[in-house]
Amino acid sequence: MNKSTSPISNNVVWHHATVTRERREAMNGHRGAILWFTGLSGAGKSTLAHTVEEHLHRMGCRTFVLDGDNVRHGLCGDLEFSAADRAENIRRVGEVAKLFMEAGVIVLTAFISPFCEDRNKARAMVKPGEFIEIYCQCPIDVCEQRDVKGLYKKARAGEISQFTGISSVYEPPDSPELVIKTAEMCLQDCAQKVLQMFLK
Ligand code: ADX
Repeated sequence: MNKSTSPISNNVVWHHATVTRERREAMNGHRGAILWFTGLSGAGKSTLAHTVEEHLHRMGCRTFVLDGDNVRHGLCGDLEFSAADRAENIRRVGEVAKLFMEAGVIVLTAFISPFCEDRNKARAMVKPGEFIEIYCQCPIDVCEQRDVKGLYKKARAGEISQFTGISSVYEPPDSPELVIKTAEMCLQDCAQKVLQMFLK
């Protein structure tokens, strides 16, 4: 089977929980949601997601960050960076984020998720309003200057293939719920902008 197709198993029947999402959310005192951060490597997705999480956690919210680099150590450790593998990466992350959300958690995902189609499929897994797309917009030369992980240098030297922004495309979202220009605002201002939009 093609890795990027969405498998549906045979002979399995949905089992309904008695502890429902509504009961979990009532106990938590807030709804579950998915805050989906997308953008180039080095655009600040993970840093921003963790900062927003810190604020929400201090407010008493149940939160969890799913981060590209971490998830690729485990759940998606078998995937590389072809378009098909990235699609499968985002499909799995979308499903996991949905499970967390149904457990009443505010999930913050930080994945490049470069393709509109893959992000839109993740959006379509949940109800309207539950998937909040936040585009961390940052010029590639700024990401490259930061080069926190030294990967841009390697990609320019031809040591990494299919590197987003250099040898693989990044498709900016058409209509994200929020655009954050991470090169133009400080981290705390970026976090406040996300929180204002989410908590309004
Ligand atoms: S995604 O495209 O499938 O959404 P993901 O967010 O999981 O990517 O992983 C991106 C991280 O993997 C980057 O931040 C970077 O550290 C690392 N990485 C390694 N190789 C590549 C590559 N070819 N393109 C982009 N990121 C890469």
